[in-house]
Amino acid sequence: MNDKTRLAVLVSGSGSNLQAMIDAQIPNLEISLVISNNPKAYALERIEKYNIKSVVIDHKKYSNREDFEEEIIRTIEPYRINLIALAGFMRILSPYFVRPYKYRIMNIHPALLPSFPGINSVKQALEYGVKFTGCTVHFVDEGVDTGPIILQAVVPIYDKDTEETLLERVHNEEHKIYPEAIKLYSEGRLKISDRRVLISP
Ligand code: GRF
Repeated sequence: MNDKTRLAVLVSGSGSNLQAMIDAQIPNLEISLVISNNPKAYALERIEKYNIKSVVIDHKKYSNREDFEEEIIRTIEPYRINLIALAGFMRILSPYFVRPYKYRIMNIHPALLPSFPGINSVKQALEYGVKFTGCTVHFVDEGVDTGPIILQAVVPIYDKDTEETLLERVHNEEHKIYPEAIKLYSEGRLKISDRRVLISP
């Protein structure tokens, strides 16, 4: 059980969470592959200086979701990936993709799920007037932001907050809990009991 956990990270944009995973230097983890559906994602620039393989699979070049997802699966397969981390990946994955990777795909969401799923969650939280929001790392199931919750961090909302200031504090917490969740996975410490993800000591 000395084998490293081999991680594939799926991105679409800035890649600050990917950067946090790299910076965390998780001992038993290898970031084997980064896939971006967006050829212009800044995440791709970020990793140029590291020895990490990256592949662009542009969804616009596929006429339907299945073909796009099949190409991701085909690309991932030779890397013998143990875990897939969605890090700002802006495509919804269908059950066709998700089912075979049950409890092996994680996502980070910028709200305390089940509040504010979907997009613009920081704006939604601010507009709703909640006093606390945060972020959630969860396993991906066949719904949108509905899978079992692994870790959450709480961020208070202050009267003077704008979307930008709040987003920055949410991001800071994301960059702590996403690497932590991946580390726990790589240590074999996540146990699933119905909807609950229990963390072994
Ligand atoms: C994060 O806010 C994450 O919660 C959401 O997309 C954003 C990705 O940011 N799913 P980055 O690309 O990791 O900087």
